[in-house]
Amino acid sequence: MAVTTLRRLRLRTAVRSLCPHSTFSSPTTDRLLSIRPHRPFLSPSLGQCAFYSRRLHPRSDRDKVSSPTIPERLPFSKITQEDLAFFRKILPGRTITDPDVLEANNVDWLKSVRGFSEVLLRPQTTEEVSQILRYCHSRNLAVNPQGGNTGLVGGSVPVYDELILSTALMNNVLSFDSVSGILTCQAGCILENLSLYLEERDYIMPLDLGAKGSCHIGGNVATNAGGLRLLRYGSLRGTVLGLEVVLADGRVLECLASLRKDNTGYDLKQLFIGSEGTLGVITAVSILCPRKPKVVNVAFLGCETFEQLLQTFQLCRGMLGEILSAFEFLDSECMRLLNTYLKLPNPITDSPFYIVIETAGSNLTHDEEKLHTFLEEAMTSSLITDGTVATEDTKIKALWSMRERVTEALTHDGFTYKYDISLPVEQIYQLVTDMREHLRGKAKSVVGYGHVGDGNLHLNITSSAKDPTLLAAIEPFVYEWTAGCQGSISAEHGLGLKKRNYIYYSKPRQAVELMGNIKAMLDPKGILNPYKTLPDNLN
Ligand code: FAD
Ligand code: MLT
Ligand code: ZN
Repeated sequence: MAVTTLRRLRLRTAVRSLCPHSTFSSPTTDRLLSIRPHRPFLSPSLGQCAFYSRRLHPRSDRDKVSSPTIPERLPFSKITQEDLAFFRKILPGRTITDPDVLEANNVDWLKSVRGFSEVLLRPQTTEEVSQILRYCHSRNLAVNPQGGNTGLVGGSVPVYDELILSTALMNNVLSFDSVSGILTCQAGCILENLSLYLEERDYIMPLDLGAKGSCHIGGNVATNAGGLRLLRYGSLRGTVLGLEVVLADGRVLECLASLRKDNTGYDLKQLFIGSEGTLGVITAVSILCPRKPKVVNVAFLGCETFEQLLQTFQLCRGMLGEILSAFEFLDSECMRLLNTYLKLPNPITDSPFYIVIETAGSNLTHDEEKLHTFLEEAMTSSLITDGTVATEDTKIKALWSMRERVTEALTHDGFTYKYDISLPVEQIYQLVTDMREHLRGKAKSVVGYGHVGDGNLHLNITSSAKDPTLLAAIEPFVYEWTAGCQGSISAEHGLGLKKRNYIYYSKPRQAVELMGNIKAMLDPKGILNPYKTLPDNLN
């Protein structure tokens, strides 16, 4: 305790002495958001969320088809009493048809899209998933695989009456090797539970994201989620060592190897990472986990310009080197939303830009010295104007919530148009500036935040209600702008229902055609998550 206090004082003094106006306060807010499965913790007022409120009432398929973004229902079979009898036999008590229970599974986290499924299946084993898919394949029944339903592109809920296959009850750790750090678990394990399980064993998960309290590891793999630690531990394409997947016809593909190296033929698991439930249902994951760092520090800093923020990033990479574990940013508009809707006070003086830097290392003195020297340098060269550093767990969490809870704050501001863009890092904020100029007051808020270390901008635009005129002003402008910089229109959230037809802005036609061939080979009847990821002509 004495050591922690001393470390904090030293860091605070160091920055204070360089900046007489610095508030350099310690954050007092605790992290309020704890996302738990199936608990509707966000309730944007219906007036703010017209699209959702309209769809809260039962609607006919015809009504749905009239929306320009929703494709025609494909000729899948409709579920019959015989089908229900089959599911009830193999999943007694876990074949749910109660509309009240199904409501949460039919509506996405953003409350922006909804489906009309009448059946929720909750298997516990791979064998049960296999039986379900074998049956659905033979009956031509469409299936929507679902994890924690935190996806942000409308991929996690049905579009029409697809059966929902939830992994919620597939939540067992299968093995953990404390020498190699390899964890093997069922797909429905909640990310935060896995983190807690590993922390007790001195390890951590290689990924972390704001939805950790609800999202499932299977959903993370299916979306190839990036999150807050990608800068340090890399993408799931590197840390996932093996997968068990049930194919559309019920065959089980056992690629659950727990090997660091394996060059025997094509790496099939890569096909399923990021495939958003369209190629198979992931039932188990084997993943390489890093050791739990002994020392973690988080700095929350203020910056005058984005140019200075980028220079701070450069300096930080050079000076913090191997202990740097995250470099995130938010702009002053995000701060305004955090203050207004979540009552989170700004822990430092107001600035146009804010940076969250996390260091994670193994040597307290070494880490402290590095961070201290970096902060001093950043202050003396006027790259940052103010800052605060947290070393204790609750304060670290409070600082992180300034970044993690922006998504939640936005939902209170109104209907949110979300864009998740990959760009050369020096261009990421220009898109926000250009969008503000382009929309010239048409939107309620235009905010920018994201993973600077990964060149990933989250551009979010709100309006008091769903606004087709605003949407027409945003799209395709945002996609053309991105394509003009050779960026990607989806850095980490995937394409789902909302972005599927814009794939050509980031992928050549031949690549998309090949994706269609792979889909046709693995799921010839197209029953797995139809209307998602691939453009309409390939579904
Ligand atoms: P779901 O939302 O249930 O499903 C997502 C997609 O995966 C769907 O297409 C679904 O069909 C498919 N799927 C789910 N499980 C399986 C399975 N077992 N087999 C096959 N397909 C499956 N994303 C990021 O990348 N980085 C972030 O930092 C981040 N932060 C977020 C913060 C908040 C507050 C929220 C709400 C979301 C955030 N997301 C982020 C988006 C989302 O949490 C991730 O995409 C997450 O990985 C989805 O996991 P899930 O279990 O909720 O999947
Ligand atoms: C994030 O980085 O906060 C997530 O990807 C969620 C979002 O984009 O809002
Ligand atoms: Zn993100």
